[in-house]
Amino acid sequence: MSASAPKIGLLDSGIGGLSVLREIHRQLPGIPTLYIADQAHLPYGSRPLDELHGYVDAMVRFLHGQGASIVVLACHAASAASLYRLRQTWPERRFVGIEPAIKPAVEQSSSHIVGVLTTQATAGGPLFRRVLALYAGQTRVITRVAPDLVTLAETGDPHTPEAERLVRAHVEPLVAAGADQIVLACTHFPFLAETIQRVAGPDVRLVDPGPAVARQVSRLLGAEAVRSGEPDVYYTTGSRDAFRAALQRLLLIDAPVTALRWSAHTAGELSLEEAT
Ligand code: DGL
Repeated sequence: MSASAPKIGLLDSGIGGLSVLREIHRQLPGIPTLYIADQAHLPYGSRPLDELHGYVDAMVRFLHGQGASIVVLACHAASAASLYRLRQTWPERRFVGIEPAIKPAVEQSSSHIVGVLTTQATAGGPLFRRVLALYAGQTRVITRVAPDLVTLAETGDPHTPEAERLVRAHVEPLVAAGADQIVLACTHFPFLAETIQRVAGPDVRLVDPGPAVARQVSRLLGAEAVRSGEPDVYYTTGSRDAFRAALQRLLLIDAPVTALRWSAHTAGELSLEEAT
């Protein structure tokens, strides 16, 4: 075991970032990870960016305190709220954020119509504006805000008729408009990919940013990425048992989960500590 081995910190409002973690596990097996699910504040997608930044900033401080040498904002909404601000606050630290994957979708589109499934925070945030301005070109980008799909991924069974009805309501209009690419611009949505693909049909490609994010983490770590033998650590600000069950259901991982508690200080600063 090496004392200087890097740890990768990840954060999300809930289980969504696990779709990024699973790619990190594939591409960087054995590199220890720290994952925070801020389920006390779920959903992030319907909250103002300034409010989200308060949560993200506190989680980042907690992850740094636990030895994270790189922090992945495994959440589009958190990235929209905080990526630029974190880089300003800690220019010496490494952050990987997620912007909606418009570029690869536009590159692959034959119909020149791209659908985006996302949440309000991401749709109204600076990263989405930036990628649209840079990469959309002549391609028509149709955005659907789908907060009910976050709830479905977080708590529901995506294989029920009711789940399929919810997915259909968002996906069918995109396909009917001619989209041949659907960007999953919320990290919860890869866990609904089977249902989305079934509804969209075989000619539509789903774009999950997880693999590209893991490649970016791998690039940044470079030769630092050595296995240390330390275990992965999971935290939630919500129910420990529920998060542990989700971890088993979604990633087939059986691991203990530590509960975290929020506290507010004078001047409004938030912090996280382990709940006893
Ligand atoms: N998983 C998150 C994202 O990628 C946030 C979902 C939510 O809490 O609304 O945006």
